[in-house]
Amino acid sequence: MERPEPELIRQSWRAVSRSPLEHGTVLFASGRQFSSPEDCLSSPEFLGHIRKVMLVIEAAVTNVEDLSSLEEYLAGLGRKHRAVGVKLSSFSTVGESLLYMLEKCLGPAFTPAMQAAWSQLYRVVVAAMSRGWDGE
Ligand code: HEM
Repeated sequence: MERPEPELIRQSWRAVSRSPLEHGTVLFASGRQFSSPEDCLSSPEFLGHIRKVMLVIEAAVTNVEDLSSLEEYLAGLGRKHRAVGVKLSSFSTVGESLLYMLEKCLGPAFTPAMQAAWSQLYRVVVAAMSRGWDGE
């Protein structure tokens, strides 16, 4: 598996992590019943999950040089999502939203190399979570 370039990931995450909740809402705002970010922000259940997702991404950024240390945790997280009825295919939408969020946050500073590094990072996270669906 290709390894995401650590410095590109850290550099681009700095801007996002200053306000993770605000940026996190972009991640899930599309495709749900919310008509606007404000609407979505007023749902405690939704906000709680955004916080959780951003913490997992934060953990991946922190451990970008040794993502295998998160393998077991992520497989367990995958199992929990399977148990609550989440489809594995939904994760690709979240991945696209993650790239969209970064692009929106960083503007022209979000280079193609950064985009590639984030795609790789997210692929590693989803691959580890998908082990929870395979039952391994
Ligand atoms: C379409 C995508 C997703 C859906 C529909 C979904 C839905 C859910 C639901 C229903 C729960 C249980 C209730 C709750 O704790 O809020 C949950 C828990 C959680 N989700 Fe997601 N989720 C999705 C994607 C993700 C992704 C991409 C991540 C992280 C990368 C993530 C991280 C978490 C975490 C950390 C928990 C708490 C697990 C625990 O209780 O230990 N979710 N999710």
